[in-house]
Amino acid sequence: MSQARPPIAMLAELTHRCPLACPYCSNPLDLARQDQELDTARWTDVFRQAADLGVLQLHLSGGEPASRRDLTDLVRAAREAGLYTNLITSGIGLSERRLRELDAAGLDHIQLSLQGTTPEMADEIGGYRGGFARKMEVARWIGEIGFPLTLNAVLHRRNLHQLPRAIDMALEMGARRIEVATVQFHGWALQNRDALMPTRDQARQADRVVQEARLRLKGRLVIDYVPADYHSDYPKRCMGGWGSTGLNVTPDGLVLPCHAAQTLPHLSFESVQDRPLAEIWYDSAAFNAYRGTDWMQEPCSSCERKTVDFGGCRCQAMALAGDAAATDPVCIKSPHHGALQDRTAAHAAAEDAPLTWRVAPGRSVPEPAE
Ligand code: SF4
Ligand code: FES
Repeated sequence: MSQARPPIAMLAELTHRCPLACPYCSNPLDLARQDQELDTARWTDVFRQAADLGVLQLHLSGGEPASRRDLTDLVRAAREAGLYTNLITSGIGLSERRLRELDAAGLDHIQLSLQGTTPEMADEIGGYRGGFARKMEVARWIGEIGFPLTLNAVLHRRNLHQLPRAIDMALEMGARRIEVATVQFHGWALQNRDALMPTRDQARQADRVVQEARLRLKGRLVIDYVPADYHSDYPKRCMGGWGSTGLNVTPDGLVLPCHAAQTLPHLSFESVQDRPLAEIWYDSAAFNAYRGTDWMQEPCSSCERKTVDFGGCRCQAMALAGDAAATDPVCIKSPHHGALQDRTAAHAAAEDAPLTWRVAPGRSVPEPAE
């Protein structure tokens, strides 16, 4: 049995189905089909097990969780298990009536994603005509019902200039928090690095905008910010450290230490259909593979920051250095850092690179906006 502490948060990926086709989607290339998704009773059991394990916050995600017809039942089940429930949604698929049902079922919080601050940008990036207008309607209902709201914007080379407007929109919608995440290149997004990589100037400008807005809006709006890590000198503390505070459950029940863990081919992941959640968390080889610091190589193993960032992101180390136990190449101490900087500059300079939209199952061609 490992010495791990209980997790605080669980991300339940209820479905991979999604009406949008965002090129920055970080879901894996192979998506779970609808007939593989856990049913209502199985999810209900998983929520109870999560609460028993010590999980406090449940993030209901996807794909688009509103694609699940039983979403209200799932929220009710999670609340009955004693979990704080947060719905992460694009808003597409939510009607006013459905939102009121979710409110009655006890939904605690909504996180609404923003693909752009204008219809042209949002509909192009989401690959969904009319999506922005629908989202604005949903935002109005959310405000009228009184859900606590976080706005969630993924920023990249095409829309980073809209960051100040995104912050204003969060205020106008009555959001208490905005999450501004520069695009992370996992899953589908990896093939869009030429089209989406911000320039170094954009990354620095975003740093300045966030810094200024945090001062100006102190006490009114919390700004969570994930900077462009390919342009950084030190990596992010991914998942707060592997197997330390959170876990993800895929639509078909695999339990993962992080969103992109299936890109680590040497690890095998267990399912809630085969083993209790607590055993997977504490005892599975995958969760123990990169816990703590014992697994580290140099330069991480003797670095003073090793319990600050835990060597960065294991999935990024795998994707960029070919070794999941390597120092994340974002780190200035990594032997791959210089090559990554060169590649980052080349991606950012690929001016006419086309977007490759996420193609969901049953949808052969995304529907680009006009
Ligand atoms: Fe973090 Fe490893 Fe870089 Fe040190 S060497 S800063 S622990 S990634
Ligand atoms: Fe897997 Fe960072 S996304 S460890």
